[in-house]
Amino acid sequence: MSSPKLQAPRGTHDVLPDDAARRDALEAAARRILGAAGYRRIETPAFEATELFARGVGASTDIVQKEMYSFEDGGGRSLTLRPEGTAPVCRAYLEHGMQRLPQPVKLWYLSSFFRYERAQAGRQRQFWQVGTEAIGSADPALDAESILLLAELLEALGVRDVRLRLSSLGTPETRAAYRAELQAYLRAHADQLSEEVRGRIDVNPLRAFDADHEGTRAAMAGAPLLVDRLDGEDAEHFAAVRELLDGADLAYEVDPTLVRGLDYYTRTVFEFTSDALGAQSGVGGGGRYDGLIEQLGGPATPAVGWAAGVERMLLAAAEQPVGEPVVDLYLLRGSGTATAAVAFQLAHEARRAGLAAQLELAGRSLKGQLKQADRLGARFVAIIEEEHVTLRDRQSGSEETVTPDGVIAGVLRGRQLS
Ligand code: HAM
Repeated sequence: MSSPKLQAPRGTHDVLPDDAARRDALEAAARRILGAAGYRRIETPAFEATELFARGVGASTDIVQKEMYSFEDGGGRSLTLRPEGTAPVCRAYLEHGMQRLPQPVKLWYLSSFFRYERAQAGRQRQFWQVGTEAIGSADPALDAESILLLAELLEALGVRDVRLRLSSLGTPETRAAYRAELQAYLRAHADQLSEEVRGRIDVNPLRAFDADHEGTRAAMAGAPLLVDRLDGEDAEHFAAVRELLDGADLAYEVDPTLVRGLDYYTRTVFEFTSDALGAQSGVGGGGRYDGLIEQLGGPATPAVGWAAGVERMLLAAAEQPVGEPVVDLYLLRGSGTATAAVAFQLAHEARRAGLAAQLELAGRSLKGQLKQADRLGARFVAIIEEEHVTLRDRQSGSEETVTPDGVIAGVLRGRQLS
């Protein structure tokens, strides 16, 4: 009886070599674009104290209520696989006293995250994000710079049909007053709302803007909007961000119904979508979170950031051809018992000399080995015999007989000539 096939868990996937090569290119683009703006890489642990997310992301969010992979460790602590990166980075900022560094502190990450969501195309239970967090400045120029950097990254990766939606959520005080106004409006229109929205009026009335339900959507068309209730400073901040984006010629749409799935946002929020994706069209999003560091026990510290899904960016990008790995030298074993040891030693020395070198390891016939060199696209092959080595340049077709000691020099010389 055969046992059932082992598979990767639902909502996860293996990153195979061709996919890894695309991710390497994405990482290089992120490093170049973000590095040029002063961002430095940070990586936090894959799991954190559960409390960090309960306090940081918000107890009423879907993430905290139903999507966290939480577990108790052997010491009885409640830990959670990180569902997002902002709260952990803020925790690290405080833990390492980064408030004493020149501000803002600009950080970026490329890490995997975990959410127990309904798995479908573009929505996994383990996924990767590139993200930035710029902590310690309330300047609207930092919001605009942050948004432009994500736009630049998406463009560099060839992400198609990108659209940007932008809004402002104001301060917690404005939001509290607005929330009460919206709750009153929702209660007055309760008979038109879906059961789910009605049930969440007290907990999360803003989510009503997100609903697909027809009656709810109709009722929401007349609902009061937060952007019309911003106080003077918040309205000025929002206007300044928009002006800078206009000056940079970045197209966006102000969407006052933009709702983000995390509670920490204040003032600016934004989301990039790609029409090349299906239902899960959000490629990246973020915003300002001026209250989060304080909420985590630190001093009042303004900050802004975003995260973009690696799988979604790659899905929405035009396929880039993946470059074949370079093989400078393929070492073939001729007849005789000593040839295997010579090939092994030469491969080792060639790599130490900076060449990409591989040796025959599958016991192929000489003909089979030559075929393998061809498949690998090896530039040189060295056929090791007992008495001598035949070094063939597969590009020029030239061939010479050398001693084992002459192989590496011959390859280096041949490469220089072409
Ligand atoms: P988020 O909108 O929850 O924001 O996630 C950002 C991006 O991660 C999404 O736009 C999407 O591309 C990707 N993503 C999220 N969930 C999944 C999933 N289940 N499968 C595949 N991709 C997914 C945040 O996480 C915030 N921490 C962003 C931020 C940083 N705000 C301020 N700083």
